[in-house]
Amino acid sequence: MALSNSQSDDKTNYRVQTKKQIAMFVFGDSVFDPGNNNYINTSTSGIGKADFPPYGETFFPKPTGRHCDGRILPDFAAAYAGLPYWRPYLDPNNHNFIVGANFASAGACALVEDDEDGIPLEVQIDYFKKVSNLLKEQLGEAEAEELLKGAIYYSSIGGVDYTTFIYEDSNVTESQIQDFVNIVVGNITNGVKEIYKVGGRKFAFQNVAPIGCVPGSKQSYNTTGCVESLQTLATMHNSALNFAAEDLASELPGFKYLIFDFFNTLMDRTENPSKYGFKEGDVACCGSGEYRGSATCGSLTSPYELCSNPNEYVYFDLAHATEACNIQLIELLWNGTTNVTWPLNLRQLIELESETEISSNIDRLIDEPVAVSVSNTYE
Ligand SMILES: *[C@@H]1O[C@H](CO)[C@@H](O)[C@H](O)[C@H]1NC(C)=O
Ligand SMILES: *[C@@H]1O[C@H](CO)[C@@H](O)[C@H](O)[C@H]1NC(C)=O
Ligand SMILES: *[C@@H]1O[C@H](CO)[C@@H](O)[C@H](O)[C@H]1NC(C)=O
Ligand SMILES: *[C@@H]1O[C@H](CO)[C@@H](O)[C@H](O)[C@H]1NC(C)=O
Ligand SMILES: *[C@@H]1O[C@H](CO)[C@@H](O)[C@H](O)[C@H]1NC(C)=O
Ligand SMILES: *[C@@H]1O[C@H](CO)[C@@H](O)[C@H](O)[C@H]1NC(C)=O
Repeated sequence: MALSNSQSDDKTNYRVQTKKQIAMFVFGDSVFDPGNNNYINTSTSGIGKADFPPYGETFFPKPTGRHCDGRILPDFAAAYAGLPYWRPYLDPNNHNFIVGANFASAGACALVEDDEDGIPLEVQIDYFKKVSNLLKEQLGEAEAEELLKGAIYYSSIGGVDYTTFIYEDSNVTESQIQDFVNIVVGNITNGVKEIYKVGGRKFAFQNVAPIGCVPGSKQSYNTTGCVESLQTLATMHNSALNFAAEDLASELPGFKYLIFDFFNTLMDRTENPSKYGFKEGDVACCGSGEYRGSATCGSLTSPYELCSNPNEYVYFDLAHATEACNIQLIELLWNGTTNVTWPLNLRQLIELESETEISSNIDRLIDEPVAVSVSNTYE
């Protein structure tokens, strides 16, 4: 499989790709950011960026901007689909958009005004439109349309809107909360429609994480268990997202989707780490203070602790899972049953509709399942 992401391999990638190659376009926040924030100014120090050690140590093994010790879910999703690991869209050396692009940015919000650090969803979608125009120039209208139609649009957005919301006003009423959830999901829905207009049909939504159960929230709210107000917001969002996706499916011809239950799969590992082979689900591998939940991982100025084996931890830093955890989650996204990814899993979403176009690719994936054990260098 063409998994290397090295620039010198671009020609190889082009050669491997036929016009049947599927592409993937990734939108979202720090959970999906492969280093776009390396190329922008972020306002708060520490939180928006991860382009310093020990980030990346497990796999790359240098910092790439990913908020993880190694690979993130979109890397594995790409690899399973036969695509290279992500290079940030904003990387000036990244010109190969036939495989898709990753626009995700740590701190990104669904609502423009919530954004302090990242590239808001709306702007990510503008970038996508630029890429779609480039592809049309490069491939011609018809072939670009085929590519966009068969592509997977994979997103993770909303978590930061909710943590910001509660931080700003801890005294909100239930109806204000519901209104806010509707606005966030409304903006995501609008974004989906924009992508649909450009030709996107296959959407993979990752729902919002258990944002109240991550080490950073436990520390800032000084709780022993999860922060209920944040958990409630995430639950309300995820429920609204289910309805919104169903509505989109009935409104837009040819719209196909899946929702991956990131909330429950990650929470289960947080609460029952040993069931999944982890030693620690509460405390992060890297950080400081209670739960190592401060945003100090990798800081040159604040002392922080770093565990010796991230594979024993569910969380690498205050808010992000380890590569070891991501490896478990991607299997569920790829071929999980409908209680974790509904109504389809990623493999089924890829196979749908364009079966004939991509069947050779899929056969290859079935024979050669997984990228995770492939030894591979990033650069
Ligand atoms: C980032 O900040 C620096 C220094 O303030 C400035 O020179 C640069 O233009 C900014 N870059 C972007 C992308 O805004
Ligand atoms: C919350 O709202 C109540 C009633 O409006 C008010 O008395 C209280 O001071 C508010 N608390 C905070 C922390 O804003
Ligand atoms: C999108 O968000 C804006 C605030 O940024 C809000 O005014 C608008 O109503 C939202 N759109 C929808 C469809 O919910
Ligand atoms: C956190 O909670 C504990 C127990 O409720 C309390 O003793 C401690 O002072 C609190 N710490 C902060 C920073 O609020
Ligand atoms: C998903 O794939 C993994 C490895 O490829 C396998 O171990 C697991 O049993 C599969 N699960 C299902 C539900 O097919
Ligand atoms: C989903 O269903 C499978 C098979 O029935 C089961 O093994 C698994 O534990 C379930 N997962 C969750 C998160 O409920």
